[in-house]
Amino acid sequence: MNNDRITVTSPLLPDLDELQVMLKEIWGSRWITNNGIFHRRLESALAEYLKVPFISIFTNGTLPLLTALQALRVTGEVITTPYSFVATTHSIWWNGCIPVFVDIDPATGNMDPNKIEAAITPRTSAIMPVHVYGNPCNTKAIKEIADKYGLKVIYDAAHAFGVEVNGESILNEGDLSTLSFHATKVFNTIEGGAMVMHDAETKKQIDYLKNFGFAGETEVVGPGINSKIDEVRAAYGLLNLRLVDSAIEARNQVAVKYRDALRNVPGITFFDDLPSVRHNYSYFPIFVDAGEYGMTRDELYFKMKERDVLGRRYFYPLISDLSPYRNLPSATKDNLPMAHKMADQVICLPLHHDLSYEDIERVLTIIEY
Ligand SMILES: Cc1ncc(COP(=O)(O)O)c(C=O)c1O
Repeated sequence: MNNDRITVTSPLLPDLDELQVMLKEIWGSRWITNNGIFHRRLESALAEYLKVPFISIFTNGTLPLLTALQALRVTGEVITTPYSFVATTHSIWWNGCIPVFVDIDPATGNMDPNKIEAAITPRTSAIMPVHVYGNPCNTKAIKEIADKYGLKVIYDAAHAFGVEVNGESILNEGDLSTLSFHATKVFNTIEGGAMVMHDAETKKQIDYLKNFGFAGETEVVGPGINSKIDEVRAAYGLLNLRLVDSAIEARNQVAVKYRDALRNVPGITFFDDLPSVRHNYSYFPIFVDAGEYGMTRDELYFKMKERDVLGRRYFYPLISDLSPYRNLPSATKDNLPMAHKMADQVICLPLHHDLSYEDIERVLTIIEY
C-alpha cells in the first residue's frame, strides 16, 4: 500500500494493457452488450472454474436473488437469516413475500438448522440461507427439512465464490445459488453477479428472465427484468479470473498471520479453517468479548479508525433491526440471541490480496495493545 490508510478491502484489478486488448476487440465488433462473445466466454470460464454445470451472469448480486425467487414462484413466507447484507432480505420483500428470521449458529454465523422447523407455517414456501463470510451452511440438514416440508432452497452465496466442501462446489447445493461480483468481493467484475442452476432448462428460463422475458424477437415468456452484464465488464471478469487463485492464496497468508498473532489474545475469537473446506478468505471477522478483552467492540473499532485502520462492523446492525423489518414478528431480540451477540461483537479486519507485512503488523499492534 502506498498511503497510510489501511482499508478493509481493495479491488482485484486486471492488467490494464490486457484489458485494452480486449476493449479494442469489443470496440471493433460494435457488440457491447446482450449476450456477446465475452459474456458467453465468461459464463463458460466461470462454470469450469467454479465446478458448476450451469451459470448465468448478472449485472450485480442482488438481481439474481430477486430473479431466483421469481423463477421458483416463491410466495408467502421465506425463512432467512438476519445476519447478512440487507440485499438478502430486500429480495424477499421485493417479491411481495414476508421474511421470517431465524437465529444463527455461532460456530459459523450461518442460519441454525435446528431453528428452522419451529419457524415453518402453512404459508412458508422457501428458505433463503447465506454462506456468510464464505463459511458453508449445513446444507445437508437444510435439505432434509426442505424436502420434508416441500420448500425451495435458494442460497445467497454472495460470499462463497470458489468455496468447496470435500472437493465439491458449495454452489451446487439447494435449488439455486447466487453470487455477487461486486468490487469488494474476492472475484469482481466491478459490479456483477451470477446464478448457478442444475439444468439447461432452468438456465434458459433464467436467461429469458434477465432479458425482460424475451424468448425471441417477438415472444415474451414471463415478466422479466433487465439484469444483463455488458461486454466490458465480462472482459474485465475474464482477466480477473486468471488472478483469482493467487489473490485467494494471498488472502490466506494474511489470515494465517492474523490467526497466529491473535490466538493468544484473551477476549478475541475468530473462525478457524475447516479441514474439508476450500475457503476463499473473503473476510476475517474477529469477535470482541468486552469483559475478557477489556475494551468493547466499538471502542476497538474507533481506536482502529483513529489510527487510519478501517475495519468494518459487518454485520451490524442486524437486518432485523433495520427500520423496514424491525416490526416483523420474527425480528424480536428474544428470537435472535446468537445473531445479536455476534452483531455486537464483530469487526472484519482489513483483508485483501495486496495487504503488506507492515500493514498486517499495524493492524495487529492496535488489537494486541
Ligand atoms: C450476502 C450478500 N448478499 C447479496 C449481496 C448483494 O450483492 P451486490 O452488491 O452485488 O448487489 C451482497 C453484497 O455485498 C452480500 O454481501
